[in-house]
Amino acid sequence: MTPDLQDLFEFLSFPSVSTDSKHKGDVLACAGWLQEKLDSMGLATEVHETPGHPIVIARNTHRPDKKTVLIYGHYDVQPADPLSLWETPPFSPEIRDGKIWARGATDNKGQMLAHSLGIGKTIAEKGDLPVNIILLFEGEEEIGSPNLAPFLEAHREELACDIIAISDTGMVAPNTGTLGYGLRGVACAEVKITGPARDLHSGLFGGAVANPATAAARLVASLHLPDGTVAIEGFYDDVRPLEAWEREMWAKLPGVSDEDYLKVTGSPATFGEPGFTSTERVSARPTAEVNGIGGGYQGEGSKTVIPAEAFVKFSLRLVPDQEPQTILAQLSAHLKKHCPPGVKLEIEIGHDGKPYASDPHSDFGKAAQRALKRVFPGEPMLIREGGSIPIVQAFRDILGTDTLLLGLALADAQIHSPNENFPIANFEAGIKLNQALLEELAK
Ligand code: BES
Ligand code: ZN
Repeated sequence: MTPDLQDLFEFLSFPSVSTDSKHKGDVLACAGWLQEKLDSMGLATEVHETPGHPIVIARNTHRPDKKTVLIYGHYDVQPADPLSLWETPPFSPEIRDGKIWARGATDNKGQMLAHSLGIGKTIAEKGDLPVNIILLFEGEEEIGSPNLAPFLEAHREELACDIIAISDTGMVAPNTGTLGYGLRGVACAEVKITGPARDLHSGLFGGAVANPATAAARLVASLHLPDGTVAIEGFYDDVRPLEAWEREMWAKLPGVSDEDYLKVTGSPATFGEPGFTSTERVSARPTAEVNGIGGGYQGEGSKTVIPAEAFVKFSLRLVPDQEPQTILAQLSAHLKKHCPPGVKLEIEIGHDGKPYASDPHSDFGKAAQRALKRVFPGEPMLIREGGSIPIVQAFRDILGTDTLLLGLALADAQIHSPNENFPIANFEAGIKLNQALLEELAK
């Protein structure tokens, strides 16, 4: 095994699950390992405690005549369960079929370590980097980065930079350079619908009082028109229209035909807002999703009951120039308006993150494309991601800096799922990409 893979295996062995308090010590130990690794490359490192998990910072000696590049990543991971579905244990990395199998292999340890090791190699080969570097690695991305924006506010000057680079997004097909220039935002909410004081006999009381589960179904049904359009009043008001060049470009992307979507998802048919292709729907159109719905008897057989309560969990994916707070207010108004009579509605607002879009043809965008061309064959693909990294727009709002998304995550990487994997080829390409990127950004 190469020393680089050895490093990745050690990094992947920490169960740094941020959402689970019993792994707090593992997250801390993982941050410590990372600091030591970055230290050994000759970088100056700091571990900043937060009310949650620590933030690891590393930098070279900065010179005023050089550009400053901030590279962001996250060393926390999603929970690994259900464990029984893993072919090999999630925190005992293994190589099979040219891929590294472990929780966090792609999202995000493999990708962020590739950047770190690229930096280590350039320093070892040339004595220094062509840019001033700031590495910022957090341990709370998978729980919505609750402590990172306050950290940026408090350290604005030390974190000032010309450009930010992140590898935590998708690569459209193997060995295909991919530059992401947008991300969807997200806004979460949950409703609780209550009716009778306790579950009731549906024969004795059915017909006399409203059923909370029926009310939940009505609310869910009210969210969309039958054709898939979101029915929340004002929802599309601030949506920035797709540009003609984007539609043209995305039509030529590999791996995004309806057949590809059917294969990756296992769904019997594609479905969504009329007038847009599947790629356009996930990249540049907002959606309203039901993430969970429940209430009433869930056990075997039948139980003739009117449930006392029901719940629905929603997340909305947003695109520029939608504002999460405006959209959440519209959602609340919609739910109140469409809640049927006879029940009580409680709305709880959850976490949110703003959408992001930048110009892939800016000077830094062009530099990123040159770097991708040095590592991958052909012209880089330019995409907007359907997923969210809420801190990216916060970087722009707080530090005033744009972000380049250099994705190395393949569609079958199984991030957040059992059997997450990362091809060795992507890991090695990521190391080279970092070296090429810093050279191109320095120009
Ligand atoms: N790395 C992902 C986001 C991602 C993956 C974007 C692939 C594009 C392509 C990130 O770790 C993630 O899962 N984000 C969450 C954010 C949420 C918790 C606020 C998401 O998108 O659901
Ligand atoms: Zn993730």
